[in-house]
Amino acid sequence: MLSESPIGVYDSGVGGLSVLRAIRDALPHERLLYVADSAHVPYGEKSQDFVERRACAIADYFVSRQARAMVVACNTATAAAIALLRRRHPGLVIIGVEPAIKPAAHLTHSGVVGVFATTGTLASPKFAALVQREAPEVRILLRPCPQWVRLVEQGELTGPDAEAAVRAPVTELRQAGADVLVLGCTHFPFLRDLIQAAAGPGVPLLETGAPVARWLRHQLQERGLLRGEGAGALLLETTGAADSLAAQASRLLGQPLSAGTVPDAWR
Ligand code: DGL
Repeated sequence: MLSESPIGVYDSGVGGLSVLRAIRDALPHERLLYVADSAHVPYGEKSQDFVERRACAIADYFVSRQARAMVVACNTATAAAIALLRRRHPGLVIIGVEPAIKPAAHLTHSGVVGVFATTGTLASPKFAALVQREAPEVRILLRPCPQWVRLVEQGELTGPDAEAAVRAPVTELRQAGADVLVLGCTHFPFLRDLIQAAAGPGVPLLETGAPVARWLRHQLQERGLLRGEGAGALLLETTGAADSLAAQASRLLGQPLSAGTVPDAWR
């Protein structure tokens, strides 16, 4: 059972691969099933109700595949739906991601932190509570960047258009005093080089893949669910076009990969 049952990881599209990358490093023996909900990307501008419905469909799919754990590798879906998912599947280990506000509050000298995320994440009560709890004294500048999600989905990680799309919002928050930048959407680490170039070399860019992977490892270990040996595996599936996901993921993860489709019942 343990050897065959996967850990489910999902996002609206390919952004969650930035988290999956860290999970593979921390848990090299696991069998990972990554689902890109590409038929419905982006989530960032959609209603809470819609994002909840998709989260439930994908969680139910992971359960049908006997997943031991599920990682919601999407800030937007975590903000909208993680509480609902935990009520729906109380026996499943469910890990979410949220913007790195706490470390940012520790790192800032200027007392100003910039957060790039989706509209859905930044407007959510869960994000407001996070800021209130972890950074009540810090000035937090919010910047929704739906265009960055599109760039990553289209594989446009370099070139003048991508550079311009990244430079404007980064410059704006830097000029407003932000000395730490939070990448509060899992798509954005794939634009890290452009963001760093626009922000300046010493500016911390905070993402959450590695801490989430460590937390997942800890949760599995505590429950005796960790696979400590054997070859790891990566299965990629999408609610959209399998050949597109295979091409996108191969490029983003730097290795040739194939992909399949999620059965109709969960699409
Ligand atoms: N990658 C996602 C996040 O972390 C969602 C982006 C989107 O679909 O708009 O928020």
